[in-house]
Amino acid sequence: MGKGRPAVPGRQPGQPAQGSPGAADGETDAATAQTGRTKSVSLRTARGRTSAQQHWLARQLNDPYVAAARKQGWRSRAAFKLIELDDRFHLIRPGMRVIDLGAAPGGWAQVAVKRGAGRVVGVDLLPVDPVRGAEIVVGDFDDPALPARLREMLGGPADLVLSDMAPNTTGHAATDHIRIIGLAELALDFAMEVLAEGGSFVAKVFQGGSEQDMLVPMKRAFASVRHAKPPASRKESSELYVVATGYRPERGAVLRAERRRRLEGPA
Ligand SMILES: C[S@@+](CC[C@H](N)C(=O)[O-])C[C@H]1O[C@@H](n2cnc3c(N)ncnc32)[C@H](O)[C@@H]1O
Repeated sequence: MGKGRPAVPGRQPGQPAQGSPGAADGETDAATAQTGRTKSVSLRTARGRTSAQQHWLARQLNDPYVAAARKQGWRSRAAFKLIELDDRFHLIRPGMRVIDLGAAPGGWAQVAVKRGAGRVVGVDLLPVDPVRGAEIVVGDFDDPALPARLREMLGGPADLVLSDMAPNTTGHAATDHIRIIGLAELALDFAMEVLAEGGSFVAKVFQGGSEQDMLVPMKRAFASVRHAKPPASRKESSELYVVATGYRPERGAVLRAERRRRLEGPA
């Protein structure tokens, strides 16, 4: 969710989520997202809104995932993406240490806690209302001091690093693609530093070519690397997730050293 995007209708800024989100324990969260409203709602008045704002609002009002998220108490429709990824790849297990990069407004952190993670630590440029069971700080992941801070907050190696970070879009597809891949690569480098052996990494990328470059080191450092487009990810969006499991720390350390040398350039 970008900085300039309007808040989800019906959610008051500063209001913490009430009760426990999602389906009752023992029931499946994801399936219930499909049962949302299907009747189309149209806007009666444009009331000073730009056409982009009208389009965004109409899409929100007619999106079953938005309705289901609000009804079930998830902070974002994005929560369903992690639910769907976890249902498919079995990423979250009880007691795990999880890092959530680009956590606002807190949907993925809610899902990680709900699915039994023992410690959830997150960061976002935007403040996040408290999520019970998670600790989320305000900061720029690009800040060199941030990784050490997250590591300290986590208190041990991570089992799962999630990155749903998305920079504000410029409207220029090539620039947007480069920016998101830059963030995803930073997240991958961090994941290779903090993950325990066998750990997993999930990152949002956009189709556009250079995400392939990221796959080369990932395939060396993880036992399995797959692309996934969860059903909750809008069809018209080029958004995709890379899901890497079975981290191999010795290989990760070599790749990180290679990356550092590349970034530092010839001596
Ligand atoms: C799609 S939203 C995340 C939604 C979240 N997974 C959820 O379920 O609520 C992407 C987030 O990435 C954050 N972000 C973008 N660049 C960032 C950066 N450099 N450091 C930290 N957060 C960043 C944005 O502020 C935005 O809140």
